Amino acid sequence: MDIASFRALRTPSGQALLREAAEADVSEDGLLATASRLRERHDDPSLVAAALTQVRLRARARAKFGADADRMYFTQAGLEQSTRASVAAYRAARFADRLPGARVLELGCGIGADLIARARAGLIGEGVELDPLTAEVARANVAALGLDGLASVRAGDATKEDPAGFDAVFADPGRRTARGRVFDPRSYEPPFDVVLEMARQVPAACLKVAPGIPHEAVPDDAEAEWISVGGDVKEAALWLGGLAGDAGRRATLLSSDTHFPETEPLPETEPRVWTLTSSGAGEPDVRAWGRYLYEPDGAVIRAHLVGEVADLVGGGLADPRIAYVTSDELRPTPFASAYEIEDVLPFSVKRLRAELRRREVGVLTVKKRGSAVDVDRLRRDLGFGGRRAERGAEELTLVVTRVGRDPVALLTHPVAGA
Ligand SMILES: C[S@@+](CC[C@H](N)C(=O)[O-])C[C@H]1O[C@@H](n2cnc3c(N)ncnc32)[C@H](O)[C@@H]1O
Repeated sequence: MDIASFRALRTPSGQALLREAAEADVSEDGLLATASRLRERHDDPSLVAAALTQVRLRARARAKFGADADRMYFTQAGLEQSTRASVAAYRAARFADRLPGARVLELGCGIGADLIARARAGLIGEGVELDPLTAEVARANVAALGLDGLASVRAGDATKEDPAGFDAVFADPGRRTARGRVFDPRSYEPPFDVVLEMARQVPAACLKVAPGIPHEAVPDDAEAEWISVGGDVKEAALWLGGLAGDAGRRATLLSSDTHFPETEPLPETEPRVWTLTSSGAGEPDVRAWGRYLYEPDGAVIRAHLVGEVADLVGGGLADPRIAYVTSDELRPTPFASAYEIEDVLPFSVKRLRAELRRREVGVLTVKKRGSAVDVDRLRRDLGFGGRRAERGAEELTLVVTRVGRDPVALLTHPVAGA
């Protein structure tokens, strides 16, 4: 989609075409027929293509933006790189809490997901976006959601901006560039060291980074926060100046917002939020397997807060380098999933196959940590590849890990509600 087609899409006739396309069959099977039917009635094939692309992107965007997706506009890259609404709203609430009504400069605002969330939280935002089409899309999104008075978007190179006079800077630099996915923060676009330098020129800042950021790369004065949604780690954010808390490291878990049929609008409820902060728990004790295994949420692991979870559940680690906590007590916590350990065996495919047969296991879940085992291959070797053989009705979660050099297999069951 080019800028001319996007602009045409926003005219009254473009909007009528968009509505028509929204009612049509745009599935893989129906797309071609729909496109030729629409082209018969509308002269501009590039406008028809833009409308169909928009309808398909909106359908995909519902998982991130709920019902707003049907009023918003997207580019494929802009959608893929955008922050999901629940995470953006959570982050915006922190801005609103600490800097109510602040003026925030966003360096590389993409299609505007974070800008929109902050505007809804009452902050004044100016977004700068290098790609002219993406900037136009962000501007259209601000208007479509009725936030014109609170947020504005300019096309331009954010690294040339002067942040002086703003209360805060926000940046979510692109990590998928023309050269593919980049891991070195110096290769982010805009580059991380440039946005950090700009962030230092204002009283407060928040910089979104990849969750895999090495802890050594986190500036000493930043509070680093890892965020997961429904158990999947999505991102990390570095809070600086007046936005930084004193926790040092935080893991924040948002309840899942994506498990809805694609056709159903998401409920407009606030996500549920749990935050764990570093308490100086230090290294967890090393101990023998207890009655329960706790698998910490990925955000907890990334934030190096496994010791805090071990404290919460009164447990320790069977291997000091592997983030499986074990305890004799069942203490439900949002920060880890609990499994009751039925048996601990030395890892052996032959022995496991016999054991699963003896237990009449019909549904097997395999988890691993600290093991090089190929899970698909192991499932096949255990008789759980594809075709359902004559098996029993038992369900089992097999956890493959190691203690020191010894590979072990834990036969477990998830504890309901824990
Ligand atoms: C990860 S995206 C931002 C997504 C945004 N937070 C959202 O949720 O929609 C990063 C954006 O920075 C833009 N960008 C990269 N270099 C830039 C620069 N020097 N100046 C302005 N924008 C830039 C990219 O075009 C991209 O749209």
